[in-house]
Amino acid sequence: MRETSYQELLPKALEQLPGGAFLTVKAGDQVNTMTIGWASFGHIWSKPVCCVLVRYSRYTYELLEKAADFSVSFPLGGKLRQALHIAGSTSGRDGDKFARAAITPVPGIKIISPYVDDCDLVYECKIVYKLPMDENALEPMIQANLYRQGDYHVMYFGEIVGAYMK
Ligand SMILES: Cc1cc2nc3c(=O)[nH]c(=O)nc-3n(C[C@H](O)[C@H](O)[C@H](O)COP(=O)(O)O)c2cc1C
Repeated sequence: MRETSYQELLPKALEQLPGGAFLTVKAGDQVNTMTIGWASFGHIWSKPVCCVLVRYSRYTYELLEKAADFSVSFPLGGKLRQALHIAGSTSGRDGDKFARAAITPVPGIKIISPYVDDCDLVYECKIVYKLPMDENALEPMIQANLYRQGDYHVMYFGEIVGAYMK
């Protein structure tokens, strides 16, 4: 992987995002990955920041609560489509998701959490803020369409400390 600026990766990352990326977290000796389709990239607190949204029901949420950092790995061009499907439809609570999805965690370069091998773009992020969603502050149509059952997201803001491309 070649280190680059987070801006250089951004157009391709944003194009891929709705199709899925791997959010990977390590806390203690527990490691997991899950597919995300939502994230926000920007400049906050004079830092490059990536914000991911994770519902309380996810095993990944449990790990993020104990973790210092996370990575977001993007496979491009339809690569790892089946793995994205498996990582986005099964839980790490029920066994090793990397094995099930036939993907390999690679040790993080600047962070503790690994990234996913064979991905084209990787962001390494150090958690600097977390924000549970406030249902009373949410626009009613979004509430009705996406949170009918509750299970709100917690937003984790990560300072982008490394950006890499193949
Ligand atoms: C394309 C796609 C995008 C997804 N995006 C998100 C997301 O942004 N946030 C979220 O909480 N779950 C999202 N999910 C659902 C989780 O990936 C899914 O519930 C997963 O099984 C959780 O795994 P875990 O229990 O091991 O954490 C998405 C699923 C897919 C297929």
